[in-house]
Amino acid sequence: MTLRLSPEEQSMLAGEGGPGVRKAMEIVVALGRIYGAETLVPVTSVQVAGVSYRNLGEAGLEFLHAWAAEGARARVPATLNPAGIDLDAWRSLGFSEQFARRQMAVIEAYQRLGIQTTCTCAPYLVGSVPQVGEHVAWAESSAVSYANSVLGARTNREGGPSALAAAIVGRTAAYGLHLDAHRRATLRVEVRCPVEALSDYGALGYLVGKEAQNGVPYLVGLDGSVPQAALKALGAAMAAAGAVALYHVAGVTPEADRPDLLLPDHRTLVVDDLAPAYRALNADAPAVDLVWFGCPHADLDEIRQIAQLLAGRRIRAALWITTARQTREQADAAGLLAALEDSGARVVADMCAVVAPMQELPYRVVATPSAKGAVYLPAHAGLLVRYGTVEQCVEAALTGRWPERAPA
Ligand code: F3S
Repeated sequence: MTLRLSPEEQSMLAGEGGPGVRKAMEIVVALGRIYGAETLVPVTSVQVAGVSYRNLGEAGLEFLHAWAAEGARARVPATLNPAGIDLDAWRSLGFSEQFARRQMAVIEAYQRLGIQTTCTCAPYLVGSVPQVGEHVAWAESSAVSYANSVLGARTNREGGPSALAAAIVGRTAAYGLHLDAHRRATLRVEVRCPVEALSDYGALGYLVGKEAQNGVPYLVGLDGSVPQAALKALGAAMAAAGAVALYHVAGVTPEADRPDLLLPDHRTLVVDDLAPAYRALNADAPAVDLVWFGCPHADLDEIRQIAQLLAGRRIRAALWITTARQTREQADAAGLLAALEDSGARVVADMCAVVAPMQELPYRVVATPSAKGAVYLPAHAGLLVRYGTVEQCVEAALTGRWPERAPA
């Protein structure tokens, strides 16, 4: 199959927009050829990952500086994934100045490249909301899942450099989930057990992700009114446990009722018990020293719920709610920040514990209602995890111990 380029695309590839644009077009074209795309497709937004200095290091930072020096600039709205620290409050959270300085240098490099330094994995909560059928180029796996599945937009899971390249040329290669044919379901999932708590959705996502791998699951049996936070948790877990970038839920997601949804050779999975997921995601660690909410980044309702559950009581373990800076400001305006801080909790902007330099802090066991967090924290941050409901996690923050059963 031959990749056809428009005259404008050819001129970018020929270097007429400068070396930075040529390099970006070379990346997009190379991916298009590898994946057999016939054309490129314009994108309306980009979400760039690869932000934490812990993952990028000096080599990644130099790469960004060099590309910016070649004149590369985003030509479509582009947002940024979380960094390794809260860019304002890093010191009070215990992170080192040495790391903070290098992280700031990364943020400045992205600013030079014209990327909005939103530092969130949930750009759809802070104004980047593509419509059904819109082509975008997003990189963060949970955001990709949300954009494809819940919003009905179209994106493959871009890598760090490929998302940046898409921002610079305003296009991506038209293959994979940009095409109708690849959005059909490979796995029918019959859910035959109650799925109620946020962590239940994460547990379900964990089981489905393991089975689906990089396929497209179609879930039947969930209530028709699945809340936004639950869809966020479900998709993030499927992406972390497998590599699911698109899922459909009967009666809920926008493409679930297309008549040819299920591929003729689809497989079937019956989920009648979530306990295996809870077992797999829980370490045997009774004492908890950090409780982490906001993976993916929390919305205002999630922050409000935690404030209500704490009800002004002082916590014993540290408690972080990670969120976008804009959502943090909304929480402040709503009086939630003050209430949470009175309890000793922190609403932390810009960052994600999985990509933070957690080895700089004294925490060993983290409690979270996020299955994605529970999958990644042990391997990426060297932490033990307790996984359970929001109520269990709040109880763990209050007592410093993991409550085996959810408080009534
Ligand atoms: Fe977001 Fe980090 Fe979780 S990027 S989805 S908070 S692992």
